[in-house]
Amino acid sequence: MGSFSKFTEYIGSQFGNPRGLIGKICCIGMNIINKPMYKNTVAQTNFDKGDKILDIGYGNGFLLHEIYKKNPVDLYGIDISEDMRNAAAKRNSRAKKNGQLFLEIGDCCDLPYEDDTFSAVSSINTIYFWSDTVKGLSEIRRVLKKGKSFYNLIYTKEWFGDSSFTEKGFRKFEPDELVDLGKKAGFEKAEVRDVVKGKSLMVIFTK
Ligand SMILES: C[S@@+](CC[C@H](N)C(=O)[O-])C[C@H]1O[C@@H](n2cnc3c(N)ncnc32)[C@H](O)[C@@H]1O
Repeated sequence: MGSFSKFTEYIGSQFGNPRGLIGKICCIGMNIINKPMYKNTVAQTNFDKGDKILDIGYGNGFLLHEIYKKNPVDLYGIDISEDMRNAAAKRNSRAKKNGQLFLEIGDCCDLPYEDDTFSAVSSINTIYFWSDTVKGLSEIRRVLKKGKSFYNLIYTKEWFGDSSFTEKGFRKFEPDELVDLGKKAGFEKAEVRDVVKGKSLMVIFTK
């Protein structure tokens, strides 16, 4: 393997589990590139006082921070990266100070929350890395309240193309495939919306 491929593979692994200084830099890059995704997700959020929302794979906590600016609700998050928990806690210090920040280190395929807890669950660019997509979706469905939704944002398979950083440990999805997986996980409804046509999309899974 050439040194360029090794480098892109390393960057790909940082997207799936950001660590150290390079992980922090990758996340700042994501915050810039993913702007339309954060904006579209926040646009979906209108919560009541006391609502709990969960972000899967919160990274450096950018989305949680944007949600809190609009709706000061209880923020929950789970991510496999310890370094990201520290970064996300720093970014969301206002929510933390108000006793409204609950960040876990863990895997979304085994969520440490009670059934019917959340008014919304979000996830931006994480589903590619889950070890078992249907298990992850079933867990999210379990912790959502009835009638509430999971907002899952991804880049399209066509946009990723053959990019070498997605070669290892990275699963790309067609929208129809995600809709089918959502049904398998027991969701009542799954609706696909464009974020940036041909580039990124949101699948809204409703319990
Ligand atoms: C590409 S980054 C996206 C970060 C953030 N959502 C954003 O858009 O800024 C993917 C994140 O998902 C996390 N992650 C990967 N697999 C996960 C899993 N099975 N459960 C929870 N988090 C996971 C990674 O540690 C990383 O922080």
